[in-house]
Amino acid sequence: MITIQFVKEIKKATVRVVVGQNEKAGKGILTATEQKTVGEAIKQAHFLGKDGQFVDVFCSNGKIVMAGIGDKPSEKTFCDLGGRLATKLSRDTEGVYYATGCYGLDDVQEAVQVAYGALLGAYRFDKYLTKTKPEDKPTLKKITIVVSNPARAKTAFKEKQAIADSIYMARDLCSEPANVLTPKTFADKIADMGKLGLDIEILTLKELKAQKFNMLLSVAQGSSNEPRVAVMKWMGNPKKKAFDLGLVGKGVTFDSGGISLKPGAGMGDMKQDMTGAAVVSATMRSIATRKVKSNIIGIVGLVENMPSGSATRPGDIVKSLSGQTVEILNTDAEGRLVLGDCLWYMQEKYGVKKIIDLATLTGAVMVALGEEYAGLFTNDDTFAEELTVAGKHAGEPLWRLPMNKAYNKMLDSDIADMKNIGGRVAGGSTAACFLGRFIKEGTTWAHLDIAGVDKFEKSRPTCPKGATGWGVGLLNNLIK
Ligand code: BES
Ligand code: ZN
Ligand code: ZN
Repeated sequence: MITIQFVKEIKKATVRVVVGQNEKAGKGILTATEQKTVGEAIKQAHFLGKDGQFVDVFCSNGKIVMAGIGDKPSEKTFCDLGGRLATKLSRDTEGVYYATGCYGLDDVQEAVQVAYGALLGAYRFDKYLTKTKPEDKPTLKKITIVVSNPARAKTAFKEKQAIADSIYMARDLCSEPANVLTPKTFADKIADMGKLGLDIEILTLKELKAQKFNMLLSVAQGSSNEPRVAVMKWMGNPKKKAFDLGLVGKGVTFDSGGISLKPGAGMGDMKQDMTGAAVVSATMRSIATRKVKSNIIGIVGLVENMPSGSATRPGDIVKSLSGQTVEILNTDAEGRLVLGDCLWYMQEKYGVKKIIDLATLTGAVMVALGEEYAGLFTNDDTFAEELTVAGKHAGEPLWRLPMNKAYNKMLDSDIADMKNIGGRVAGGSTAACFLGRFIKEGTTWAHLDIAGVDKFEKSRPTCPKGATGWGVGLLNNLIK
């Protein structure tokens, strides 16, 4: 990860980034001669200062990068600018950004946004690339930001740094292949977070059997990789015993579909079917590093869904942890089976009254919302509003989708309390209704279906193509 430094002034810099629309941009930053050179260069380059536009100006003592931010820059504009700079300067070693506060945002806020965006944009998952030529490797080590009050910027940035670290963790976990990230190795990584002050408990196969996590076990039983359930507790308010919030994550380290096998094309993407669990674990990490003053619990169900002689068959009936029976008509609708038991466990064992679950649950939500919004389902309008605002500010927006009695009824089975699929239509809603059957009366609950947003097909300024870590920013905002 690159280093960010905030300073009041800087004497010498070979790469300087100056924001603006015209030749006046470098006033007070560049020398008169430099300003003249820049003025000529931006004219020749037809630079209009549009958001995302850059001009490199080479002077005798280094490079000046003119950066456009458009007419009405927002926090997001500066965050994106930081992300673009991480890519743009990737072959330099250091860059200096001058926060001016001239564009509607106070210069400390501007500095923090640029810094945060730069961290996110600089993310790479390159550990398995052994043949990259030295000249193609990123060399950027540090971005220095000149700002009026470096101490204030540093304090404000600390929180952002913790969130960025956790987004890195979530993206790393999502990108790892399923032969490396199994339920066990995932749980080991979570156990490691004990050193941050989190209280971690890992339930193994034996304990899961004893506790009767039968729905979860029905998903795991076809795989030679044993399941795990990880419980992460953060007691930031020790005066209180109860939890303020619970987070539940789907951690299917590989979803082949099981006996209801998925088609071959694109099946490799299903190594990422553990994104919900990655985001929950990463968020628990940021909560611990930020030393949040609330009590928060995270539970993730870690399993691999594979076809084999011991796998669950379509038509099998299992008795869930809640006692309700489920007819499994499609073994590819496995996420809800994993989550149902985890949700129940969280309420029953820990008495949690406010829960958010995150899961790459349905292709239907991906088709409906694409990479732009995650699907939000909730039994509480106020909670819907809070989550929507938190998501918007994090650049991880949510779109609410419905649950009602009719969708719920589609899950009724003739020979068990419910079946695990609702039919051809409204797949996101029937999946949410299935989870709702494991929510107790009086629990405030939201389900985020992140199937479309867990990875981007095309890179964005603050996220290279691939795993996004979507949800970490949103949950941190909500908690704050
Ligand atoms: N993990 C998938 C959902 C998914 C699909 C996530 C595509 C990301 C991209 C989930 O377990 C699944 O297979 N759901 C089925 C449910 C169906 C069988 C009712 C689906 O959405 O097709
Ligand atoms: Zn599936
Ligand atoms: Zn799945």
